[in-house]
Amino acid sequence: MAYVTLKEILRGARENGYGVGAFNFNSYEDAQGIINGAAEKKAPVILMASAGAVKYIGVKQTAYMVKGMAESVDIPVCLHLDHATSMDLIKACIDAGFTSVMIDASKKAYEENIRESALVARYAGKTGCSVEAELGRVGGKEEDVIVKEGKDTYTNPNDVPRFVKETGIDALAIAFGTAHGFYKKEPNLDFELIKTVAGITDIPLVMHGGTGVPPEGFKKAIASGISKVNVGTELKATYVNTLRDVVKKNPNEADPRNYLKAVKEQCAEVVKGKIDIFGCADKIV
Ligand code: G3H
Ligand code: ZN
Repeated sequence: MAYVTLKEILRGARENGYGVGAFNFNSYEDAQGIINGAAEKKAPVILMASAGAVKYIGVKQTAYMVKGMAESVDIPVCLHLDHATSMDLIKACIDAGFTSVMIDASKKAYEENIRESALVARYAGKTGCSVEAELGRVGGKEEDVIVKEGKDTYTNPNDVPRFVKETGIDALAIAFGTAHGFYKKEPNLDFELIKTVAGITDIPLVMHGGTGVPPEGFKKAIASGISKVNVGTELKATYVNTLRDVVKKNPNEADPRNYLKAVKEQCAEVVKGKIDIFGCADKIV
């Protein structure tokens, strides 16, 4: 249906009480699986490529591939650069046609985070590309971004108004107890903090570290004000576990499509399950 920006795809999510799923991909198969799963559910979907994924696939290759996929289905699709720290990569992705980018300067001091996020928002404004930035620090490991967990990394609501106003960003990632990667124990999520931030700003709020969060955790986070819900590690694990199993069961298969088809299908299954939890099925606006 349409290749849209993050701002467009998240419009109405908070008021209507649903979250839009944002899923990391690393190749054609998982990307197509994500889109197929969302198309089956008639749900808007955000495809996220990390800096590592973009380097692996190629900047233009990523943009053109996902744009082509988006044009072949009847749902809104957004292509988002996830957790980028390099200005050069961000600019290259915007120039290639990504419809959203995340500048992750959350490890830097507040003033520097504002400066870099504002710079990206200004550049993105040229094409209408959306921008997500992060305040506070989401724990765990996301490629080369490693953050120790603890309450001192949670978003400070007092930092929000000036950050949103001076950066001009379209979505804000907040730290409220989630972490990247598999959890060693069940996460303790601060839903009151989400509500507080949602009471301060109207811009869509983003939840990182979705892998391993139980369905109730997602539902409460969305009811508290989260609009974009990121899931990455679970899809990576689905990809490699499926591939390993199918190769083991059919060691003499000669056609790669007969292995990779299973990856595509299993990724679609994971996405459909998440869409049911996030409440975004049939929410094509
Ligand atoms: O930015 C990506 C997400 O926050 C993914 O987190 O790998 O823990 O699901 P996850
Ligand atoms: Zn993340």
